[in-house]
Amino acid sequence: MKNEYLPYPATIEEIRPETFDTKTYKVKFKDQKIADSFDYKQGQFAEISVLGVGEAPISITSSPSRKGFLEFTIRATGKVTDEIHKLKVGDVLHIRGPYGNAFPFDALKGKNLYFIAGGIGLAPLRSLINLVMDNRSDFKHIKILYGAKTPEDMCFTQELEEWKKIDDTEVWLTVDKPCDGWGCSVGVVTELWKETNIHPDNAVGILCGPPIMIKFVTMELSKSGFKDNDIVMTLERYMKCGIGKCGHCNVGEKFICVDGPVFTSEQVKKFPEKEHVL
Ligand SMILES: Cc1cc2nc3c(=O)[nH]c(=O)nc-3n(C[C@H](O)[C@H](O)[C@H](O)COP(=O)(O)OP(=O)(O)OC[C@H]3O[C@@H](n4cnc5c(N)ncnc54)[C@H](O)[C@@H]3O)c2cc1C
Ligand code: FES
Repeated sequence: MKNEYLPYPATIEEIRPETFDTKTYKVKFKDQKIADSFDYKQGQFAEISVLGVGEAPISITSSPSRKGFLEFTIRATGKVTDEIHKLKVGDVLHIRGPYGNAFPFDALKGKNLYFIAGGIGLAPLRSLINLVMDNRSDFKHIKILYGAKTPEDMCFTQELEEWKKIDDTEVWLTVDKPCDGWGCSVGVVTELWKETNIHPDNAVGILCGPPIMIKFVTMELSKSGFKDNDIVMTLERYMKCGIGKCGHCNVGEKFICVDGPVFTSEQVKKFPEKEHVL
């Protein structure tokens, strides 16, 4: 019988610094059979462990359309993630998954897409963004709205520049505190509403960021006329098993690890009141 908790070793092939506390890890499973069978979808996560230390749920930031490796963008915030940050190229991480549901993909075809992210929240969205970019002609207009505390807190800066150059794609950036030479907006991500043309017609908003950001962006999208079903978000909760067994991540009757982490605003509004992020 397959042991669902068994992680598989993966070698770190590349480490890219994103910010002072966040790095992107490109990894490859040691066992080719595991690599071939690790079939993930945009928006799913994996449990990543450092042996003898522990494990943490981390979104898969690479796109399923780009085969042969996995990428994770990890902020050092505690026991496991601090240990991961000490590892070097050639070291080994242990990975089990993929877990959770996924962002819609076929249902987004033919739509205008608004990706709205705060801070490290761009990591889960990046998986879907690059999948969409690899199938660009299937989608209409794309806007990426991204906010961070300061310009130094922005992840994927090089890729944001590349996305800007893709046909019919806009990238809008904002920071709470600018530095000298900052040429984009200042203020929270909803401030971008004043500058960009946000229109609900045939459009879906896809969000990830801190709960407070999700709350205000959802309110603004609703005010702009987006229906609850056309606002999609990925949520974080404290997790242990990642597979619906331990009960650490439940919200009412839902387990964020198996029923989520991707939900529509309509679904989130049905969560018990104390768990509302909206
Ligand atoms: C579905 C999912 C996807 C995630 N994707 C990413 C990702 O792509 N990149 C990334 O850097 N992080 C991601 N996280 C958050 C990450 O799992 C936590 O930061 C990590 O578990 C912290 O573990 P640690 O042992 O390093 O820190 P700990 O020593 O366990 O904790 C450090 C601090 O972080 C708090 N914390 C722990 N887990 C969470 C959590 N889930 N939410 C909020 N606070 C928490 C603790 O309460 C404590 O204050 C994700 C979480 C979930 C549930
Ligand atoms: S993390 Fe164990 S049930 Fe979701």
